[in-house]
Amino acid sequence: MPRSVVVVGSANADLVLEVGRRPAAGETVLGSDVVTTPGGKGANQAAAAGRAGADATLVGCVGTDASGDLLVGSLEGAGVRTDALRRVDAPTGTAVIVVTPDGENAIIVAPGANRQVTPALVADLADVWRGATVVVLQLEIPLETVAHVASAASAAGARVVVNLAPAADVAPEVLAAADPLVVNESEAAFLLGTTPGALATDLDAAIADLLARGPRSVVVTLGAAGAWVAERDGRPQHVPALACTAVDTTGAGDGFVGAMAARLAAGDSLADAARVGARFAGLAVQRKGAQASYPTPEELHAPRR
Ligand code: RIB
Ligand code: NA
Repeated sequence: MPRSVVVVGSANADLVLEVGRRPAAGETVLGSDVVTTPGGKGANQAAAAGRAGADATLVGCVGTDASGDLLVGSLEGAGVRTDALRRVDAPTGTAVIVVTPDGENAIIVAPGANRQVTPALVADLADVWRGATVVVLQLEIPLETVAHVASAASAAGARVVVNLAPAADVAPEVLAAADPLVVNESEAAFLLGTTPGALATDLDAAIADLLARGPRSVVVTLGAAGAWVAERDGRPQHVPALACTAVDTTGAGDGFVGAMAARLAAGDSLADAARVGARFAGLAVQRKGAQASYPTPEELHAPRR
């Protein structure tokens, strides 16, 4: 049986600090105590896919340390298969996250074990991902691995979801394999060589430019302003965000991607899948943490408020 959603990507322990405001260069500010919580864009996306009902798998690497145990426990709690999550001789990836009272964050990632998600490692695990219904990629693992998986999975008939986060220059075959390419405003601006401000003044043109880079479809996420979904030859469609107050947006974008991937694997249209992604993200921003904030299947499917 082919697996439905396979995420190839990163797993991090998030060291989260709340501060009144981000320090300027050379400045010291006092913050809260540090809370350690499961994160990493790949693991977050896999957890979200699991919570949204998919048979989800994470292909990746964590260390043999306590952070690795934290990740394995969180993923299994979300129903994610961890048989392709290797325990390697390197520290588990670590993210230092500063959260401000507006719910926004600033993040620094120390990749650690994520560096070992090499083309050779994923080639070894090809049976896990090559025949999957949906393969999800982001950019916290070596970019040559992303290129290898994007090309091979797409050639094998998998639907490849590419989340260009954190923004980086990827090989043209990565963009060509993407269906959809998922970007927020700053990632879209990076890819198009413009500024988020300029991009926002003509979103239709930006979406056309993004499609011209090769993906079969594009999803531009705009936080509280929802998302725009566009397929080649189709008119862009707006997907509204859940009206809510954000406490912590960490991992919300990953939640969107993972939940959307789950619904794509179940056969939803891109717009319908994005609607579920937006609801998932809107629930996640109302609680602290990344995976720790994700809704249960019951919460996700509760009647709309
Ligand atoms: O997207 C949020 C994630 O980015 C965090 O969980 C952190 O680990 C970094 O990967
Ligand atoms: Na959250």
